[in-house]
Amino acid sequence: MDTSFNIDAPLIIAHRGANVDAPENTLIAIELAAQQGATWIEVDLHLTADRRIIVIHDETLNRTTNGKGRVLDQSLAQLQQLDAGSWFANEFVGEQLPTLEQLIKLLDQFKLNVNLEIKADAGMEGETSEVTAKILQQHWPVNKSLPLISSFSTLALESMQHSAPHLPRGLLLEKWETNSAALATKLDCVTVNLSRHYVDAGSIDSIKALNKKIMIYTVNEPTQARELFNMGVDAIFTDCPGYMISAMQE
Ligand code: G3P
Ligand code: MG
Repeated sequence: MDTSFNIDAPLIIAHRGANVDAPENTLIAIELAAQQGATWIEVDLHLTADRRIIVIHDETLNRTTNGKGRVLDQSLAQLQQLDAGSWFANEFVGEQLPTLEQLIKLLDQFKLNVNLEIKADAGMEGETSEVTAKILQQHWPVNKSLPLISSFSTLALESMQHSAPHLPRGLLLEKWETNSAALATKLDCVTVNLSRHYVDAGSIDSIKALNKKIMIYTVNEPTQARELFNMGVDAIFTDCPGYMISAMQE
């Protein structure tokens, strides 16, 4: 398998879209990120009761929609009735939770690269990855750069490795620990994505020694972004892509 994975470092990835200016993980937030100059976005995926994939961060609907309860307990049709914008600001009333299929269309339209983060409820890791892989197989445009699939869940990444081995994988961790190198190698990940709270020169060196890219979440301060890039970090996830992109050009 060709495990080469290229990004133009230093790369700024819009975390959940331009989520400081628009409701996170919605199509409008992604479109806005593109308008602000982002070339990469990150979004979070969840499985629905009828085994479809929807873009939302939390396991429950409570924080970012006008619904309540678990995403996994509702069908796509029910989820599409919900408002995913009004919690953020009145001007976003009517924004829906995007399906993975709708997301793919928008990414294609705006020529955006994507990091799809699989957020699997306990026990649903395998199925969430399998359904995601199937939708990508059916809908991902032939000539488009492949999505980077990441997860905190080892089970979800293992399932992806099995269902869609050609898709590049990212090992999502809070902290680089003694067993992390073995895990990243076993899962054949092309990136390691760490929290800004724990990254240090030692972890960056270890990841680089494995010939994997290193991405850091979530960085909203240009001073910190500069420092990380100078230390050899390849990409950062930020909530404010427009601000960060112009700051990095100064
Ligand atoms: O993928 C980086 C980052 O999105 C991981 O944390 O909670 O924002 O999904 P979270
Ligand atoms: Mg995420």
